[in-house]
Amino acid sequence: MKVATTVKEVREIVKEWKKEGNTIGLVPTMGYLHEGHESLMKCARENDKVIVSVFVNPIQFGPTEDLESYPRDFEKDKKLCEQAGVDLIFHPEPSEMYLDGFSTYVDMSGLTEELCGKSRPIHFRGVCTVVSKLFHIATPDKAYFGQKDAQQLAVIKHMVRDLNMDIEVVGCPIIREESGLAKSSRNTYLSEEEKKAALVLSKAVFLCEEMAKKGEKNTAAILKEMIALIEAEPLAKIDYVKAVDAETIVPVDTITKPVLFAMAVYIGKTRLIDNTIIDAK
Ligand code: PAF
Repeated sequence: MKVATTVKEVREIVKEWKKEGNTIGLVPTMGYLHEGHESLMKCARENDKVIVSVFVNPIQFGPTEDLESYPRDFEKDKKLCEQAGVDLIFHPEPSEMYLDGFSTYVDMSGLTEELCGKSRPIHFRGVCTVVSKLFHIATPDKAYFGQKDAQQLAVIKHMVRDLNMDIEVVGCPIIREESGLAKSSRNTYLSEEEKKAALVLSKAVFLCEEMAKKGEKNTAAILKEMIALIEAEPLAKIDYVKAVDAETIVPVDTITKPVLFAMAVYIGKTRLIDNTIIDAK
């Protein structure tokens, strides 16, 4: 497995691979890798070569968010990538990605204004900018993102469509702990007590799936029950619990096509997200 820290190195390696006719899968990450990322790497193995980027992207964090404290452990990440059969890790410094005087951003309206975009106004501009840079640098055939960040996945698919990027964006299922808690690098912030409290997110997801299975089509009725369940947990504070069109992120009242039930909930100081997509069928 190779490790590159500069754009030039990645370009040279990718050029060689392409000359040999290899297909390339990219897994963009912010590191502190867990089973969720591992599952993305597994999906990406359908390509001849797999690149994982490990970069805590400063421009997607707001001024009061956790950029400084975001967990990092590159040695552990390297081992996990090695075991997962990754061919190249791209681990640049912020100064390599954002040169002095950097001032060009990919800014999307619409999809980015709902859900997480409401409480994290610059977040998706930062995500779209860094992901398009990674796409330009690694020039993958396919790129892999987790369904846990459902809005991010929809936004990236939309960006690829809008900007005619010749890349297939693949969404991979949420990986949960046995308890139901969705895997996240931010779970490391939780105390034991908070970890138990955090189960309200997955319980709300399962409740939603159960109600939909029984035939409930009214999103307000489902959201009401989900919110009541979360509010019964004293350590939980809701940022949002919403039902939106899974593709356009526009709020919907009735399940007639795939609906994304998504939530962001503070457990103590930690903001966690979870979701499920309910198909009309
Ligand atoms: O999902 C993430 O870890 C990040 O938002 C991403 C896609 C790697 C961009 O920094």
